Amino acid sequence: MIAYNQDAAGTVCIVGLGFVGLPLAMNFLARGYRVIALDTDKRKLEALGKGSSHVQDVPDRQILGGIASGRLAFTDRYAMASAAETVIICVPTPLAPDGAPDLGYLLDACRSLSPVLADGQLVVIESSTYPGTTAEQVKPLLETNGKRAGTDFFLAYSPERIDPGNRSLGIHQIPKVVSGVTDACLERVASVYRTAFDSVIPLSSTEAAETMKLLENSYRFINISFVNEIAMLCERLGLNAWEIIEAAATKPYGFSAFYPGPGIGGHCIPVDPLYLQWKAAQSGAASRFIEAAQQINRRMPAYLVQEIEKHLPAGTTVDGARILIYGVAYKQNIADARESTAMAIMEALLARGADVRYYDPYLASVQLPDGSVMARSELSAAALEEADCLLVLTHHDELPVRLIAEHSSFVYDTRNVVAAVRPGAKLVTLGNGARKDR
Ligand SMILES: NC(=O)c1ccc[n+]([C@@H]2O[C@H](COP(=O)([O-])OP(=O)(O)OC[C@H]3O[C@@H](n4cnc5c(N)ncnc54)[C@H](O)[C@@H]3O)[C@@H](O)[C@H]2O)c1
Repeated sequence: MIAYNQDAAGTVCIVGLGFVGLPLAMNFLARGYRVIALDTDKRKLEALGKGSSHVQDVPDRQILGGIASGRLAFTDRYAMASAAETVIICVPTPLAPDGAPDLGYLLDACRSLSPVLADGQLVVIESSTYPGTTAEQVKPLLETNGKRAGTDFFLAYSPERIDPGNRSLGIHQIPKVVSGVTDACLERVASVYRTAFDSVIPLSSTEAAETMKLLENSYRFINISFVNEIAMLCERLGLNAWEIIEAAATKPYGFSAFYPGPGIGGHCIPVDPLYLQWKAAQSGAASRFIEAAQQINRRMPAYLVQEIEKHLPAGTTVDGARILIYGVAYKQNIADARESTAMAIMEALLARGADVRYYDPYLASVQLPDGSVMARSELSAAALEEADCLLVLTHHDELPVRLIAEHSSFVYDTRNVVAAVRPGAKLVTLGNGARKDR
């Protein structure tokens, strides 16, 4: 039995207050915990301290309520973490410029935590990462000050499975997979997480839990790429991929529907498969499915530019064409353009000389791959009438279908959300090759 500070019972420290950490902090707060919310970004902390949330799924009033209750404190001081029974790490795990995993943020957080680690404390890693990270990278770092995992403190891995923008599923309702570097660590994380999540699923090792997360996201990566390949194939065959997918989805078993789109973006789905691929390469192995999916995904921006050009009025090219984009977030109903395929599409259109503007209700400005910043344009009847093409990339709930249909001369819809346009105007839907005028 590992001794721990009884005063710390009921206190959780969340390290990294981003799209994952902040909602997680709110979940523990709602379950009656005291929460120490820790981040190295002082500007973020200042805004949060005033009750201003940067994560759309966390309303300001929730933060203000937490502060008023006296159970929520924001800090950049790792020393504060010693006061918690459980420390949960949710810092970024991006790719390095050479495409290899960049564990810099995670290892920095562990280095900062190690000297202040308290006896009996539970440390849980929630960042997505490759198998072996917790046991081979995190454990030795946390043990540098003489404390042993499983003897003096508990070390666990529990992958985050949050679905940003999903308004129907609370974070506590998503089954929580947990694992520990020893049996005692597993028992400890399972017992703490059972108090905060409706369902807890223990796995045999941290490597298994790390791989499970990469499997989930690789599955999405491969299936979305596959369905985009089917969409391109259907266009060649004169068929409507959307009709075909809907029909396949009526099968009560053995088929999960994925839908065409402009490509895969975000901080997780395009990144995690490459973590798995990198780890596989260490043992001389590789996933050919991930490789193929990556090729298809990378091809999407060039394919879309080529398709738009094909459907512009005769004699016109993309060069000089006014392209207004609706939606640049990597998925619907969120204010996140990280790794969004829209950025690569904008870059490709700009490189071809197009006059590119965008409208996204969630993003007032975006940074393009070359580092320049583009501010949001307006989406009005006049702006639509001036555009040579309205390109729908993200299907936010707010998408004004009627306005678009009534005022655009040419709509290229990658999401199948615009059903019809005014007489004389042109509508092309990605994956629908059944239209007579294609
Ligand atoms: N965003 C998602 O939908 C999602 C879903 C599942 C899993 N994940 C995984 O969760 C992890 C976090 O992702 P995110 O989207 O929340 O990232 P994010 O960039 O939104 O937030 C990370 C936060 O960590 C802070 N940070 C960085 N280094 C730190 C340090 N050393 N100490 C303290 N704070 C530090 C940053 O300032 C930032 O506020 C990643 O591994 C990601 O792959 C993300």
